Amino acid sequence: MACYGRSLDSPCTLALLVGFQFAFVLYFSLGGFRGLVSVLVHTTGPEFDYSRPHDVYTNLSHLGVPPPPPRNSVGPVSVHLSSPLSLEEIRQRNPLVLPGGHYRPPDCEPRHHTAIVVPYRNRQIHLRALLYHLHPFLQRQQIHYSIYIVQQWGNSTFNRAKLLNVGVREALRDEDWSCIFLHDVDLLPENDHNTYTCHKQFPTHLSVAMDKFRYRLPYPQYFGGVSAVTPDQYMKMNGFPNQYWGWGGEDDDIAARVRLSGMKIMRPPVAIGHYKMIKHKGDRGNEQNPRRFDLLKRTRLNWRSDGLNSLTYELLSRELEPLYTNLTVDIGEDPRVPQGKAPNPVKTATPVHQRSTSKLGGATKQEKRQENWYNCF
Ligand SMILES: *[C@@H]1O[C@H](CO)[C@@H](O)[C@H](O)[C@H]1NC(C)=O
Ligand SMILES: *[C@@H]1O[C@H](CO)[C@@H](O)[C@H](O)[C@H]1NC(C)=O
Ligand SMILES: *[C@@H]1O[C@H](CO)[C@@H](O)[C@H](O)[C@H]1NC(C)=O
Repeated sequence: MACYGRSLDSPCTLALLVGFQFAFVLYFSLGGFRGLVSVLVHTTGPEFDYSRPHDVYTNLSHLGVPPPPPRNSVGPVSVHLSSPLSLEEIRQRNPLVLPGGHYRPPDCEPRHHTAIVVPYRNRQIHLRALLYHLHPFLQRQQIHYSIYIVQQWGNSTFNRAKLLNVGVREALRDEDWSCIFLHDVDLLPENDHNTYTCHKQFPTHLSVAMDKFRYRLPYPQYFGGVSAVTPDQYMKMNGFPNQYWGWGGEDDDIAARVRLSGMKIMRPPVAIGHYKMIKHKGDRGNEQNPRRFDLLKRTRLNWRSDGLNSLTYELLSRELEPLYTNLTVDIGEDPRVPQGKAPNPVKTATPVHQRSTSKLGGATKQEKRQENWYNCF
């Protein structure tokens, strides 16, 4: 069909216009504005080919075997979302992980000491996928770390932020962690350049590009998913709120605390902060919190009085499982839900953890090690 247009209103011109329009719509829906901007403005950020990920266990067996491994990050790593291995199989694939989900690089002095705190209830499959993925991911980053699962006991509404408070406090009882990761159980990092370490000055938000949000930040103040604070930053913002029962709001409250305490949020480049979310239906016991907008309005007034300094809970058990530390905790009941019985007297926990002076017993341990000692990268 020849299409040499002689006049503007020829059917060919019309078809061409419609065609262009269609192409634009297609273009924007696929690449969006960001795509357009990155074409027009030359961005210097790193680029990765996520279509060719590496196995997250790549060269894991090199760790602990002299000579020291080179920095062995590979960029994009593949993520297995469905039918994860059993806990026993995951343990076998991670022979250097100690009870409690603890790991220390066997052949170098780690520079980073990171506690991973995961609020949890009834998500066995997600937990297995997370452990399968995170253990090799962190070992290949040569980080000294532990994984803490903070399990909310009972049937009351889920309270993510309060569980995070508990996790931070209990983790700091164990070790003098320099960095604490606040990690949702259903998020798996897709790029091992995304190091699980803290910024010295400011809290970090890591999950900046989740598949759920089409690999973009959903809104500028978003702080949910995976974030990290040092103990000092955590204290400065009086920890996290204890009053958010149910889904939503608490991450915005935490972001507001960062701002109100005079800090700001650091983020890795979008190309690095890729995460996959394990799909699931809404949780029972974690319904949307209808009070979240009211609570958020009052963050400015409340953040100094509600948080780390008002945290009460009862630790029911602490078990060192092969791949994680299981903290089971009674954090009380959602005050909105009418209770059949009188609310549990939630016992006051001990005062704010005093940082121990022995820095991980590092010096003595280091002395015992072999001569060909070197610092982890
Ligand atoms: C794995 O280790 C081998 C041998 O040290 C090395 O040649 C290879 O590049 C490593 N693979 C990756 C993806 O780092
Ligand atoms: C939670 O609910 C289940 C089933 O409804 C019940 O069997 C269990 O005892 C409850 N647990 C607590 C701590 O109340
Ligand atoms: C954690 O420990 C509690 C108490 O022993 C137990 O009921 C629960 O199943 C454990 N959870 C996980 C994820 O191991």
